[in-house]
Parts: sequence; C-alpha cells; structure tokens
Amino acid sequence: MKEKLTAVVLAAGSGERFNSKLPKPFLNIGFKPMFWYSVYSFEKSAEVEKIYIVVSAEQLELVKKQHSKLLKNISKFRGFITGGKMRQDSVFNALKIILSEGGSDLVAIHDSARPFIKPNLFSEICKEALIVGACAPGISVTDTIKLVNDKDLITNHLKREDLVAVQTPQVFRFIKLLRAYREAKKKNLTFTDDTETYSLIDKKITIVPGDKDLLKITYKEDLKIAKEILKRNKNLWK
Ligand code: CTP
Ligand code: MG
Repeated sequence: MKEKLTAVVLAAGSGERFNSKLPKPFLNIGFKPMFWYSVYSFEKSAEVEKIYIVVSAEQLELVKKQHSKLLKNISKFRGFITGGKMRQDSVFNALKIILSEGGSDLVAIHDSARPFIKPNLFSEICKEALIVGACAPGISVTDTIKLVNDKDLITNHLKREDLVAVQTPQVFRFIKLLRAYREAKKKNLTFTDDTETYSLIDKKITIVPGDKDLLKITYKEDLKIAKEILKRNKNLWK
C-alpha cells in the first residue's frame, strides 16, 4: 500500500462497567496487557506506518513507567497522546496530534478493549477504505432489536437482517475524518462511533464482515472469553 496509514489505539477510558482499579486496557490477558495485543497486530501489519496510544492524563505516568520496556519492541510506536473525557475527545486529540506531526493518508481508529485483530480482517478493512473512503467491520446481530422511547414504548420494529453491530478498527481517509470531527465540534454533536461522526462529511461507508473473536471487553466476565480466544489463536500473538 503506497498510502500511509496511522493507527490510533484508544486506551483512555475509565472502564466504569468493568469496574477495576486499573483501567481495563492495562490488565493482563495471558502474559501481556490488553492494549499490547492490538498494538502488536498493527506493528505486524504491512499497511501500518505509525502507531499512537491514547491514555488518560491520570494514567499517563504510570503507563509510561510500567509499559515503556514492552513498547521498545514496537518500532512503529510514535508516542502517547493524552485522551479526553469522552471517547470522542480522545479521538479528536489524536487526529490533531497526527495532523501536527505531518498528517496521514488513512487513519485506523481502534478500541484497545478489542484486543484480537486478525491480519486478514484488517487488510480487508484497509482495502475497502482505500476504495470507498471509510470502512468498518460489522457482525450480524442475534437478538431482535427494537427502538424504544423515553416512556418505554416501542417506536420501531427493526428488521434483524438489516442490522449489524459495528466493531473496530475502523479505517478512514484521515483528512475527511478530521473534517468530520471539526464539524461535530462546531455543531456541538456527540457520537460514540466514528462512522457516525464521519457521516457528517460523507455518507458512503462500507461494512465488511467482522469477527466474533474481535470481542469488546466491557464486563469482568468478558475476560474469561478473551482468554479462550487467545488460547485458540496463540500463534497470532507471541
Ligand atoms: N476510550 C477512550 N477515551 C475515553 C473513553 C473511552 O480512549 N474518554 C476508549 C476505551 O479505553 C476503550 C474504547 O474507547 O478502549 C471503547 O470504550 P469502552 O469499551 O466504552 O471503554 P470505557 O469507556 O473505558 O468503559 P465504560 O464505558 O464502561 O466506562
Ligand atoms: Mg465507554
């Protein structure tokens, strides 16, 4: 790929639902901290040129102290970026730093809480993003989903076949995602997903089939599943 891609690994959340002393990205799965797995996948990916890790201001010193040695082996690691209150603030901070350090053709935004990115899937996402401008992995949902209003009444019955649950990494044309974030800021809009932010600028976003193993660790019980996924895919992360 002649275009340059910068990967942003988000690890600045407080993990309220997980509820541990140390934020979840810094807890171990097997022998490595959770955030390391996605960083390693990006390090190994031919598509990625640079990697940044977004950490909260409160955690920054501790993370540097505990994990700098591990990151010495990551040749594409360009540094830590301070996160913000909301995920959206963390992403925007990262985009601004990337711009100030020379910009990028493409950017991958990734939740470190999804440790297990497989190489083929990431290549597929990049390939589509290059063609279309934006691409995210999505998996079909098994539950039937309803829209509900503030009075607990169903307002819309959604067709399960039309629904996907989006995952990360999501890859975008860098300059367009930056414009979308500026637009969101100007209009004071909040989003929890980057494809939605990006849609302020461009509605065309492709979904490629995601991966169940790209699980997002949200609650403590998810760690057990994560360990099983790692056991099944040991050869990918060592
Ligand atoms: N994240 C971030 N900055 C924030 C909030 C979230 O970088 N201000 C990151 C998290 O570290 C995580 C990813 O975004 O890797 C997805 O968020 P989520 O799973 O919701 O994690 P938390 O926000 O930490 O958890 P919770 O919502 O339970 O508080
Ligand atoms: Mg959150």
